[in-house]
Amino acid sequence: MIRVIELFAGIGSQHEALKRANIEHEIVAISEIDKYASRAYELLHGKVNNLGDIRKIDKLPRADLWTYSFPCTDISLAGRLKGFEKGSNTNSSLLWAV
Ligand SMILES: C[S@@+](CC[C@H](N)C(=O)[O-])C[C@H]1O[C@@H](n2cnc3c(N)ncnc32)[C@H](O)[C@@H]1O
Repeated sequence: MIRVIELFAGIGSQHEALKRANIEHEIVAISEIDKYASRAYELLHGKVNNLGDIRKIDKLPRADLWTYSFPCTDISLAGRLKGFEKGSNTNSSLLWAV
């Protein structure tokens, strides 16, 4: 059984993918700040240990696999190509928190 941490978890698509691939796993923690996404996550997958804002996490439980689907708006035209440079403070630069 692999232990998984799902960062920027949203509604849990990585969790869902592991389920559909029949990969035995346990989600030991997620990081997600949006209350609606978190609610949807729990409705779809059950209660979960949400560590909240990734910028405020200083310790993670032991895990075998981390997944992350960081906000990508700023690397597209929709985000006016603001980019994801480290320290730039764009949403996409949250990638560096991983
Ligand atoms: C591209 S979406 C992830 C979609 C996800 N893969 C799913 O299955 O729904 C990025 C997610 O990052 C979350 N997010 C944004 N800032 C965050 C932060 N500081 N800490 C944790 N999560 C954050 C957003 O609320 C959003 O759900």
